[in-house]
Amino acid sequence: MNFKQLSKEELHQIYNRQKAEYDSLVSQGYKVDIARGKPCNEQLDITDAMLKLEGIENMPKSYRNYGMLDGIPEMKKLFAQILGVDSSEVILGGSSSLNLMYDTIQRNLQFGVCGGTPWNKSAAKFLCPVPGYDRHFAICEHFGIEMINIPMDAEGPNMDLVEQLVANDDSIKGMWCVPKYSNPTGVTYSDRVVERLATMKTKASDFRIFWDNAYVVHDLLDETDHLANIMELCKKAGNADRVYEFTSTSKITFAGSGVSCIATSANNVKDILSHMTMQTISYNKVWQYIHYLYLKSVDNVRAIMAKQRAIIKPKFDAIVNAFADNLGEDSGIAKWTNPNGGYFITLTVMDGCATRVYNLCKAAGLTLTPAGAPFPYGRDVSDGVLRIAPTFTSDSDLVVATQILICCVKLACTEKLLED
Ligand SMILES: Cc1ncc(COP(=O)(O)O)c(C=O)c1O
Repeated sequence: MNFKQLSKEELHQIYNRQKAEYDSLVSQGYKVDIARGKPCNEQLDITDAMLKLEGIENMPKSYRNYGMLDGIPEMKKLFAQILGVDSSEVILGGSSSLNLMYDTIQRNLQFGVCGGTPWNKSAAKFLCPVPGYDRHFAICEHFGIEMINIPMDAEGPNMDLVEQLVANDDSIKGMWCVPKYSNPTGVTYSDRVVERLATMKTKASDFRIFWDNAYVVHDLLDETDHLANIMELCKKAGNADRVYEFTSTSKITFAGSGVSCIATSANNVKDILSHMTMQTISYNKVWQYIHYLYLKSVDNVRAIMAKQRAIIKPKFDAIVNAFADNLGEDSGIAKWTNPNGGYFITLTVMDGCATRVYNLCKAAGLTLTPAGAPFPYGRDVSDGVLRIAPTFTSDSDLVVATQILICCVKLACTEKLLED
């Protein structure tokens, strides 16, 4: 049923039905939250094994002391294998990759890139594929970096626009990318997009891509999406210094209590360490070693992620199936993603309805990520995008969340169609 083809009378009937269902849902006093991409307890329980491991007594004695600013070789090697880079290109950080991204931007603003002019000597701009990760945009906003929206399509960011902008504006210093199972669209960048990012001409010689590979091993299917190796392509194109790649074990082991890393060229590694050495003497090598003991190898990481997949895939399926059953593929009021990995489903509702859906859900006890959040400055001009994070919520709460959400989508959209 396409809502846009219904008569006013038919719309009224649907509206009245939805309003009655909505009122009944509100009266239940539900309290459900599908706002943030957090692992659920069952996923985290898997990692409890890390706290009971044998072998910690074999940790090299030197790890107990200061030193090794770039981290322990065992974990550097494991991250290097996961990302397809050389160990010498990896610096381990603390528990948060977002922290490394923040530090990298702050460093470049204040000290410039590899001894160049500090970014803050003039107005710096960043390209932001949208919808994207709200915390990336919050960092830019915090530092007063102007953000330019780049529409995402099925293969990644619109590269015609990216190429044209970076070729002509030397105040564009950076670009955010979540290249695999993008937050929140689930898109994995195609080979062609990655190649164009690696080879494009940039007016700013200190332009950097912030390649946030947060979901590198976070598959929802048995097969992993293929993502081209941007560091390799940049080297081939003579742009070896173009990329800072980030990842962490936040959603492999414990969220917010894992190990993070940055992978980048030899020049950038040297530059980063020259500043990092003023920040800290070393990160937590004991925790890095415990992670190494637990994670062991890429194959083992994949085996751990398969266990997590078995827990969270049914949650994604429950939502997507409920949307298909209750909204339908050709309703004209909503479409949604069915991602191969990552932590999010994007629900796109009829233009002008996302904020209304968010508010209706809130009043019925369902917390969503605020409408607009996946856009710089919280501004979604279409007011159509909602981000759904299915992982944290219990299966029974997810049934309630989906029922409320579907009811609110129908209610908000019929309301709007009746107004128009
Ligand atoms: C794209 C992306 N990057 C980074 C993070 C946070 O990573 P960390 O816990 O390593 O700071 C998240 C968390 O949701 C994310 O979605």
